[in-house]
Amino acid sequence: MTIPFLAWLYPWTKALHIIAVIAWMAGLLYLPRLYVYHCETAPGSETSERFKVMERRLYKQIMLPAMMATFVLGIMLALTPGLVDWHHGWMHVKLLAVLLLAGFHGAAGRWRRDFLHDRNTKPQKFFRIANEVPTLLMVVAVVMVVVQPF
Ligand code: HEM
Repeated sequence: MTIPFLAWLYPWTKALHIIAVIAWMAGLLYLPRLYVYHCETAPGSETSERFKVMERRLYKQIMLPAMMATFVLGIMLALTPGLVDWHHGWMHVKLLAVLLLAGFHGAAGRWRRDFLHDRNTKPQKFFRIANEVPTLLMVVAVVMVVVQPF
């Protein structure tokens, strides 16, 4: 199913989609890095409380709206005539990477609440490794949509 009117909007939809993706990815890459540093602080300390404010603002004011914009604009692109041939595999793989990114976003939100209530038990190493996950998923999503290898 496609919507003919969206062909007229296409360059703007794609530009805004890329802008939204950049903002969402910035948050997905930076939030786990904040958790790495937050692990080093004592619960209740002034530094820990400052991290909580930074984490809340990043998550609620940047990542959440950027994720929603990425999805709405991405769906608009998928409904634009002539862009996606669903018989090819690349779009399915891209959507899988996007779903996993959304899952990571949800997990990052749960870790934020743990820090907020001073009940994080995960070690710093966990967040260092978690930090790499969105990078890998982003590489898959971008290669699929640009190279369209299959
Ligand atoms: C619901 C989520 C998403 C959907 C349905 C979606 C769908 C699409 C579609 C249909 C296009 C147009 C392809 C074309 O012009 O031929 C596109 C472009 C693009 N998407 Fe997404 N996308 C989503 C999320 C994402 C995410 C999470 C990323 C990166 C992490 C991403 C990166 C890009 C990039 C870089 C382009 C521009 C490719 C080009 O220049 O041709 N998208 N997307």
